[in-house]
Formats: sequence, C-alpha cells, structure tokens
Amino acid sequence: MPARTRRIERNANRGRRFRLAILTSGGDAPGMNAVVAAACEGTERLGGVPYGVRGGFGGLAAGRMAAIDAAEAAARSHEAGTWLGTSRWPPMDTAEGLEACRRALEAAELDALVVIGGNGSALGARALAGALPVAFVPATIDRDIEGTELTIGTSSAIGLGVETIDLLRITARSLPGRAFLLQTLGAPHGFLAHAVATAAGIDLVLVPEQPADLDAVAAELRDRAPSGSAIAVMSEAVGDAVRLAQALSERAGIRVHPTILGHAQRAAAPSAQDRALGRAAGRTAVTALADGESCFVCLGADGTATAMPLGDRPAAAPAGA
Ligand code: F6P
Repeated sequence: MPARTRRIERNANRGRRFRLAILTSGGDAPGMNAVVAAACEGTERLGGVPYGVRGGFGGLAAGRMAAIDAAEAAARSHEAGTWLGTSRWPPMDTAEGLEACRRALEAAELDALVVIGGNGSALGARALAGALPVAFVPATIDRDIEGTELTIGTSSAIGLGVETIDLLRITARSLPGRAFLLQTLGAPHGFLAHAVATAAGIDLVLVPEQPADLDAVAAELRDRAPSGSAIAVMSEAVGDAVRLAQALSERAGIRVHPTILGHAQRAAAPSAQDRALGRAAGRTAVTALADGESCFVCLGADGTATAMPLGDRPAAAPAGA
C-alpha cells in the first residue's frame, strides 16, 4: 500500500463504500465488455461498488446509472458490442452537456469513472477529470488514438475482415471469372482496410493514404479472375463500394461484386487479444482510480496495460495505414 491513504480507504474510513462508474462511449468495439467485467471485478475485490452508466455520455448526462453485479458483467464479458450501451459524444461538446454530466456524477456520489471508447470519448474523459479521477481506456476498431500502441477491438475487426475474404475465396474459386471488392469500416483512415488485406494476403488495396490507379486495379482483377483470385479490399474512406465496383467492372469487362462489411465488422466476436487487453486495461484503470489518480491506459503491443497521465491535449492522429 502506498504511504498516503488511498482514495478507496479514505472512503471506507468515512463509512461509505468506494463507487466506481463505468461508461462505454462512441462506436462499440469488441472487447469493451471485457474491460467492464475486469473493472467490476477489481472494484468489488477492493471493497467498492461498480456502477454502470447506460448509453455513454448522453446516459450520464441524463443520470442513467445503477450499481452493477460483477457476476453479470463477468457472464457477458465475451459478448461483442457493449451491454451498457453507448452513444456518440454529444452532449459533451456543449457546456450544458458537460455540466449535466458533472451534476449527475455528484448526485450519484461517484468517486471515480472509467471511460471506454475512442477519440471523442477521450475528450469527454479529459473534460470530466477536473470533477473526479477518470481513467480512459482506448477502445475502437479504428486504432487511431495517439499515445497507445493498440486499441481494444481492432484485432477482432481485422479478424472478421479476414474471415470474410476466406469466404469470398471459396466462391471466387468455385465460379471463376468474376472479381470481388470488400469494403471495410475504419473511416477516415485506411488502416483497417490495409490491416485486413495484409493479414489475408491481398495486395490490391484502396485506401485514402495511397491513391490507386483504377485502370491498373481493374487490369489486375481481370487477369486474376480466371484463377478465382481476383479480390480487392477498399476502405469506406475511399467512397461508395457499389459505385467503385461498377467502375472497376466497366474497366475490366468482368463482373465485380461488392461486399460491404459495414457495422457488422464492429460486432465481430471479441478475439483472444481483445479480451486479454480488455481485462488488463480494466484492472489497470481500477488500480489507478483506487489511488485517486486519473490516467490514460496505454495498451502495449506486448499486451500490457500501463497507466499514463491522462493529459489535457486532444487525442488525435491516425496510427497510419
Ligand atoms: O467506431 C469507429 C467506426 O466504426 C468507424 O470505423 C466508422 O467509420 C464509424 O465508427 C461509423 O460510425 P457510426 O456508427 O456513428 O455510423
């Protein structure tokens, strides 16, 4: 135990159990539920009470929160999505929204908050850190948060893209002569499309960071179609998949079928990596918050979760394609 009295023990001395709220925000990402489960478990182990905020910052502003049972959180830790519910970051972009969140935290007598989400959520976490200790856990399929090597959800989303290419390969080889174009999420960056293509061994990738020559892509698809290996991957950031497939089809003179992963990619079953990262992040967040420290949970490529200063600069910057 550190020399100074930990926040959690100060509470116990006052005869009240430490209350730690957990909130998921922004686009859901596979592995968020593992963070929730680990944070609940850690809070209960320290003698505190975990609270769940329903529906992200919007739910927080409306005071939608209640104590959660760590056993229920554990039973749902393997599910994709977020069972707490989420919302996009307004109303945190208005002074009124922020104030409503602060009032709700105070009314519920919460001692600490875990915010799980992407860039917008990091801004919300930082905006509330003056009111109580806040831990931010990076979770987004886009992997575009500055200050962390990994983000929870990315490996699952890449996995779903790769599995879909495996399926397309089956039909491509069974009925040769056609081409396929798979569109991933991940806007505004090409990282996700690039990662899916790399893992699947596809070298025809259309991402905003590397403008492609459509005639050259069409020619490759035409040449590869007879062997059933004409598959290209595109990021949603480069445009409409149906139109692009049509344009490639006209240039190549063969059918080019678009497959849009869309939001199904976000709902991929959490990979082992995302579950492990989620658990490590949840444990690290609780430990820092029990000490009364706000933190940014940095997720290392080696699977470690480290509490770093939360900072006040806006989170941004893509991890690159
Ligand atoms: O959460 C990230 C993300 O899934 C992006 O990959 C995608 O472009 C975006 O969210 C979609 O946002 P929304 O669900 O608000 O349409």
